[in-house]
Amino acid sequence: MIAATRRGAVGAWWRSAVAYQIYPRSFCDSDGDGIGDLRGITSKLDHLQDLGVQVVWLSPVYASPQDDNGYDISDYRAIAPEYGTLADFDEMLAAMHARGMRLVMDLVVNHSSDEHVWFRQARSSRDNPFHDHYIWRDPKPDGAPPNNWEAAFNGSVWEWNEPTGEYYLHMFSRRQPDLNWESPALRQEVWALMRFWLDRGVDGFRMDVINMISKPWEADGRLPDAPVVRPGFLQPGFAMSCNGPRLMEFLREMRREVLDHYDTLTVGEAPMATVRQGREITDPRTGALDMLFQFEHMDLDSIPGDPRGKWALKPLHLPDLKRTMQRWQDALHGCGWNSLYLSNHDQPRPVSRFGCDEPAHRVGSARMLAIWLHAHQGTPYIYQGEEIGLPNTPFASIEDCRDIETLNMHRIAIGERGEDPAEVMAAIRAKGRDNARTPMPWSGTGPHAGFTRGTPWIDLHPHWREIHVERDRADPHGVFAMYRRLIALRRVHPVLAEGRCEGWALDHSRLAILSRSLGDELWLVACNFGGDTETFDLPEELALRAGTGWRWLAEPMALSHPAGAPDAHARLQGARLAPWEGRMLRLCRVPSS
Ligand code: NOJ
Repeated sequence: MIAATRRGAVGAWWRSAVAYQIYPRSFCDSDGDGIGDLRGITSKLDHLQDLGVQVVWLSPVYASPQDDNGYDISDYRAIAPEYGTLADFDEMLAAMHARGMRLVMDLVVNHSSDEHVWFRQARSSRDNPFHDHYIWRDPKPDGAPPNNWEAAFNGSVWEWNEPTGEYYLHMFSRRQPDLNWESPALRQEVWALMRFWLDRGVDGFRMDVINMISKPWEADGRLPDAPVVRPGFLQPGFAMSCNGPRLMEFLREMRREVLDHYDTLTVGEAPMATVRQGREITDPRTGALDMLFQFEHMDLDSIPGDPRGKWALKPLHLPDLKRTMQRWQDALHGCGWNSLYLSNHDQPRPVSRFGCDEPAHRVGSARMLAIWLHAHQGTPYIYQGEEIGLPNTPFASIEDCRDIETLNMHRIAIGERGEDPAEVMAAIRAKGRDNARTPMPWSGTGPHAGFTRGTPWIDLHPHWREIHVERDRADPHGVFAMYRRLIALRRVHPVLAEGRCEGWALDHSRLAILSRSLGDELWLVACNFGGDTETFDLPEELALRAGTGWRWLAEPMALSHPAGAPDAHARLQGARLAPWEGRMLRLCRVPSS
């Protein structure tokens, strides 16, 4: 039985919960068509129950032409046939609830598919009642598109529509027209479809690019040109369309009309969000959503301001990562809520990006990253495959890739901008979204690791015979075991959910040290983000908190490297951390003599 708690209050159920994201296409295929489906998910719920997660975020399973793997919805109330039926959905939801898990659906309402009936109607004539559901502009006098923005998936954000003699706006692919939130009728449609799923029993929404729903209109109805950073080409338009003037008004209306009437978890995807916006949106008193997915820590390995965006690679500098995380921790503690993630279906695999995916360190560094992330305050999200330390895929050629963003970028970077093909492929191997979309390897036996008995829609990771769920779960020192431990700890130790998180030695380029404190509880987390042994000391200010005549003794709560245990028990001064080792320690006060 799931108990309801007042929105945002200390003790709200989602504050001590850990969520798990399922990307349905790649999770488990029950019918042999090579594409994961709802029955496949239901068949694997024991895996999630053993892990201990209390929330599942399910990426879109709605009817869709799959131009962007379901983030292009053609019917918000129907399930895509390749994923199953509404009856399969109800069965899956009931099975989750029976296990004490809640389901958070993906709400994709910044845009729809061009095959949605609204758009098919809207594009037929300027007088059609659905016309105003989308964003239309006349061409410039010379017939050119209304502004210079480049879409997230390349090309202009404006697509010509012959029947009405206008352009329509699409911030992503031309098959994902942006919805017009200025229209009250459109907003009513969104509230109604949200109620449809909540009344069916779902427990909340992850809201796709939700801070893009209000566009920055000028008084004359124009969307201003973006600054020119790449002369002679279209300019990145993404930043221009985030955090528009009516965002809070729309979100508060959503809260009033829908969310206040249900017990939900809401998490808004918010690219370009600053801590100020994070606080404004997640403050339970005046905000609108429970938490955000912010991107500041995801943008640190790209060259700032480079028109190639995320594909312009730059080595990650650990102090930047720690400071960014800490800024969000400080800003939201006591007045908002963080979501914690290193991974999702749009990001490369964390063990390859932040850890070390060489065989000697893959498991250890994946366990260390789990400790580090789960040591922060907020709701952690685990993305499928992360719980077994699945690494990036060494894509040999563009033929191995399926993602629209990657394919378009590759075509334009090489074909139009003349960039070096080897460098473009290197960027795809490092940052391409397909890294996260290779199918779940459930076992080490063939033909396709238990993911499908058909032909998978995208190849499995080439090392699936060595890295798979069955093997990792059988290892008491595997990655799964570490996540399970961290989830269980969060459930029983309020300091992990509610305690203040402080970062220490923020300038250190290889060590990350955090403390959590709540009442008399003090926990310390020390992580080595490098390939050499490091020595760490208890920060002096924390040592002093023991009080005169007392000192701290460390009790290990989670250790990435089991061999670190004896050392971890007592020594806090000059303790040695092996390469990629992480320790979560509870400090106990003992008389100093
Ligand atoms: C963000 C989603 O996470 C991504 O997968 C999608 O392509 C875009 N929004 C457009 O919906």
